[in-house]
Amino acid sequence: MEKKRRLLLKATGIKLGTPVYIYDSKIIKEKCRELKKNLPGVNLYYACKANTNPEIIKLIYNEGFGIETVSPGEIKIAHKAGIPISKITFTCGSIDEKELVSVVKQGIRVHLDSLHQVEIFGQNFPGKEISVRLNLNIGAGYHSHVITEGPDSKFGIDISQIKQLKRLAEKYKLRITGLHQHIGSNILSVPIFLRAIDALFKTALLFPDLKHLDFGGGFGIPYKPKERRLDIKILGIKIKKTILNFIQKYGRKIKFSFEPGRYLVAEAGYLLVKVTDIKKNPTKTFVGVDSGLNHLIRPAMYGSYHEILNTSNAGSKKEKVTIAGNICESGDVFAKNRMIAKPKIGDILAIKNVGAYGYVMSSEYNSRPKPEEFMIIQNKIIKI
Ligand SMILES: Cc1ncc(COP(=O)(O)O)c(C=O)c1O
Repeated sequence: MEKKRRLLLKATGIKLGTPVYIYDSKIIKEKCRELKKNLPGVNLYYACKANTNPEIIKLIYNEGFGIETVSPGEIKIAHKAGIPISKITFTCGSIDEKELVSVVKQGIRVHLDSLHQVEIFGQNFPGKEISVRLNLNIGAGYHSHVITEGPDSKFGIDISQIKQLKRLAEKYKLRITGLHQHIGSNILSVPIFLRAIDALFKTALLFPDLKHLDFGGGFGIPYKPKERRLDIKILGIKIKKTILNFIQKYGRKIKFSFEPGRYLVAEAGYLLVKVTDIKKNPTKTFVGVDSGLNHLIRPAMYGSYHEILNTSNAGSKKEKVTIAGNICESGDVFAKNRMIAKPKIGDILAIKNVGAYGYVMSSEYNSRPKPEEFMIIQNKIIKI
């Protein structure tokens, strides 16, 4: 990381106090523009489950994205952030009739997740158009918790139930005008995306009334230092080709969309924490910090890797340490046996790539308050 950025993070941690989340608005904008440039003609919706801070939602909306939501709470936040209903979509499993009906009545496009949801929709809104989320068995992702297709996934209507889906639609005179798929999260492989899109295109040929197809999100980022980036440029070129092929086969134009979450915000976020304790055991050195899994649960929940930088002491000799939080759980560890510049009490560590599924998954477990969030906008740091 360049020296200027490191010093800015160090000064910010000292000035604002720790723990604190910092987002760089420039990085979010760059990511939005990169996707828009490489996926022309495809509608983009930000899956705001990755980070629901209203300022971040607004920023991404202003870059030309719609907002994808998964709960009435997220709809409320998007609404408060000024996002028009026509730019909001909704996908959610296991919701009850009241919730589903209320979302549909707001005029939000819903991707129905089960045959039961189709039945409820039909009873309440016969004769209307619907979009459905399918499970086409192309699950992918870095951890079983984030694979959202295949026999073990709770999401979508299984490919084997398409006849039942059509029968239900007929029963309530529903027109299936949209299909949706989301195979998983943090995918770095172009061929996997193409395989999923091909599967959706093949299935789409069975639905004559389509107006749109949604490929979901899942674009990954390199969390580990030497990990290869997802090649968005190549992905864009290949997708353009398959889309043109599909349109030819289908016989008319329809709309296509993606709903990325992580890709837009993950790399923009840092969690700044302070070293509060150093414990040298016979075989391990534990570095204790003033944050924990209540603020960033990804390492404990998914075994996720986050780079950690000692902003106070970057030039010093590296040491193998285990960085642990202040929560009363042995799983409360940010990094195990990690080489970082020798930490001392009071140093400010920057946990990187935490803009997605970081603050939004935080809690007050152990009755420790959540950190505040700030954004770097040009050269100013503003509370958001
Ligand atoms: C339906 C749906 N769309 C989009 C996303 C965004 O995924 P990601 O953050 O991996 O892009 C998710 C996340 O799991 C999702 O469930």
